[in-house]
Amino acid sequence: MKTKLHLLILSFAILLLSGSCNKQGKNTPPEDKMTEKKIDALLRQMTLEEKVGQMNQYSGWVDTTGPNFGDKNIFEEIKKGWVGSVLNITGTENVRMIQHMAVDCTRLHIPLIFGLDVIHGYRTIFPVPLAEACSWDLEAIEQGARIAATEASSAGINWTFAPMVDIARDPRWGRIMEGAGEDPYLGSLVAAARVKGFQGNDLSADNTIVACAKHYAAYGAAEGGRDYNTVDISERTLRDVYLRPFKAAAEAGCGTFMNSFNEIGGIPSTGNSHLLRDILKCEWNFRGFVVSDWGSVGEMINHGVAANKADAAALAATAGCDMDMESRCYREELVNLVRQGKVDMKYIDDAVRRILRIKFQLGLFDDPYRYCNPEREKNLILHPDHLKAAKEMAIKSMVLLRNEGNILPLKKSGQTIALIGPLAASKDDMIGGWSALGQGNDAVSLYEGLTAKLGNASRIVYARGCGIAEENRTGFQEAINAVRKADVILLAMGESRHMSGEASSRACIDLPGVQEDLIKEIIKLGKPTVLVLFNGRPLVIPWIAEHVPAILEAWFPGIRGGEAIADILFGDAVPSGKLVTTFPHSIGQIPLYYNHKNTGRPYSPDSYYTSRYLDETNDPLFPFGYGLSYTTFAYSGLQLSDSVMTGNKPLTVTVTVTNTGNYDAEEVVQLYVRDMVGSVTRPVKELKGFKKVPIKKGESVKVSFTLTEADLRFYDINMNFVSEPGEFRVYAGGNSRDVLEGSFWLK
Ligand code: BGC
Repeated sequence: MKTKLHLLILSFAILLLSGSCNKQGKNTPPEDKMTEKKIDALLRQMTLEEKVGQMNQYSGWVDTTGPNFGDKNIFEEIKKGWVGSVLNITGTENVRMIQHMAVDCTRLHIPLIFGLDVIHGYRTIFPVPLAEACSWDLEAIEQGARIAATEASSAGINWTFAPMVDIARDPRWGRIMEGAGEDPYLGSLVAAARVKGFQGNDLSADNTIVACAKHYAAYGAAEGGRDYNTVDISERTLRDVYLRPFKAAAEAGCGTFMNSFNEIGGIPSTGNSHLLRDILKCEWNFRGFVVSDWGSVGEMINHGVAANKADAAALAATAGCDMDMESRCYREELVNLVRQGKVDMKYIDDAVRRILRIKFQLGLFDDPYRYCNPEREKNLILHPDHLKAAKEMAIKSMVLLRNEGNILPLKKSGQTIALIGPLAASKDDMIGGWSALGQGNDAVSLYEGLTAKLGNASRIVYARGCGIAEENRTGFQEAINAVRKADVILLAMGESRHMSGEASSRACIDLPGVQEDLIKEIIKLGKPTVLVLFNGRPLVIPWIAEHVPAILEAWFPGIRGGEAIADILFGDAVPSGKLVTTFPHSIGQIPLYYNHKNTGRPYSPDSYYTSRYLDETNDPLFPFGYGLSYTTFAYSGLQLSDSVMTGNKPLTVTVTVTNTGNYDAEEVVQLYVRDMVGSVTRPVKELKGFKKVPIKKGESVKVSFTLTEADLRFYDINMNFVSEPGEFRVYAGGNSRDVLEGSFWLK
């Protein structure tokens, strides 16, 4: 009898908890009890239809960021309580009008959340995220997100679909532009910085918005770099590489996650309960909610794991996808599925609880119009402080790839400068893809930036020369004439802003169109030539890297890009950015990333049978972590505080960095580690620390890093996250290739 009672209590407890998870993570803040009580009370009042309504999200009219399924009258649906959130509606007036429909026309007055892709700015557009990450400046990255949140929240938005934290090892994939590159360590720190920037310390403040870590998971590992394509990776690689920034985002308190479009090993992420329930909600104890990607619930029919919308809805809701963005499968099917016993009510209650929790945290129940203050909107959008920060971020993001003979910086006066190329006068392209309410007209082009800087001190002769992706060469002659008259040549070449981002994979990632041919013609004339590159991904440019003496990687630098480039070109700022993504020599090398495995036959020039190509080197064109300055830095005296690391006693690694050139400058000092023998194979190098330090010319500084046993953990042969005793190599340097080496033993 006693045992039966025990069993009954136990099963009741399991039932209560099974909608979510009973495994509490140790860092989780205790739930706000008052809020949970309010949610309980609301849930008790809600009908099944009202609950499913909360799980449904529609897109508005300001922007369309996916295929159109628009067969519903959104306004009527909102008034009936069939909608929990909308995306792509902005501006205090619009948001107020629509929020009013939800709050005043529905039975329970539950407010909507308003989502938008605020990826690198709302109207004040910062450099694209890949570029920002090249600053290795976490404070600046956090501040960029803070400013984006300030502007977005002033215009009615309280939820951004950012940060995008997908690790990308394949530059053909257009969405590499939206993330922080190839490294899980740096990617995790950037993810956390962005989450903190968007969310601040208090989600209910009127200038913070809830963040969304996307695309969960491994979207960046699409086969062939083709967007939306199949992913098949091991659980170990998933956890060691792709999940790490997501975990960091969850630990930083990120309020929401978004599913990815891809499958992993046969299971689409939207219906993947291992990802959503076991790992995210249970292991990591994530308390927020998961939104599908645009239409991804319905896309499980195309994937071939659901026969129809009902199947797709059942699969996604059961797996732990809490909100359906735009596919309408939940709206049309979930109520029936629950009534027929095909979807357990506990999943609906758990999803709705999570969604309501975020609405409470945003303060929407206290004041649904909290983010609708037209005064704030008027004062904050394009605020001068924001513009200034965007320019500073652009300067920090740019990477000097080559500077033969110290052509850069250029002198400001007494020169004729030929400015050539399809991106020289472009304003639109400066803001890059996924630029929310950004407008090309707000942006400073390179031409404008140069003119403003030089005034009458030097003469600028501009010729477009050719288009970005066109084959037409009729402009070549004008460009060549301009070059003949000039002392210095500035080339502005690259991709258009829409050549990276979603659905923008490229099979050939060289300079599009005839741009490289034009460069070849110009180089023949033998004048000092500088190439400014605009692009959202690494490009394959081996000839250019060998023949164009100076190359500045400007990415898509944002609203003040032209000014920032001018500052760098003329020495008012010294470049300090470092690559967060490897530049390959050729397409055939892809995927090429610094933290690869050694293989059983690592390349050796002395043996034929080693891992290599017959027709290409294994080396990158520019390695991860690489970037030049106007000064030079010398590394010396790598020291470890001990040759043995025991237990929880940390080790200090110190290196001396000397500024041996003629400019005060900043250097990103990088620390890498290699675990020499593991129960499973380990990468040849892994970033474990970095510091961006200002060093005056002639000065030497000692830069120290602390390494702990926890830094050495990975998923071992039994999939336990542990460190293993043995030898470790330590490397310090200004990029992942040119390093000093030391070693220690973990006991
Ligand atoms: C993209 C997401 C984006 C969503 C909403 C999708 O197509 O993959 O990154 O947040 O649209 O715009």
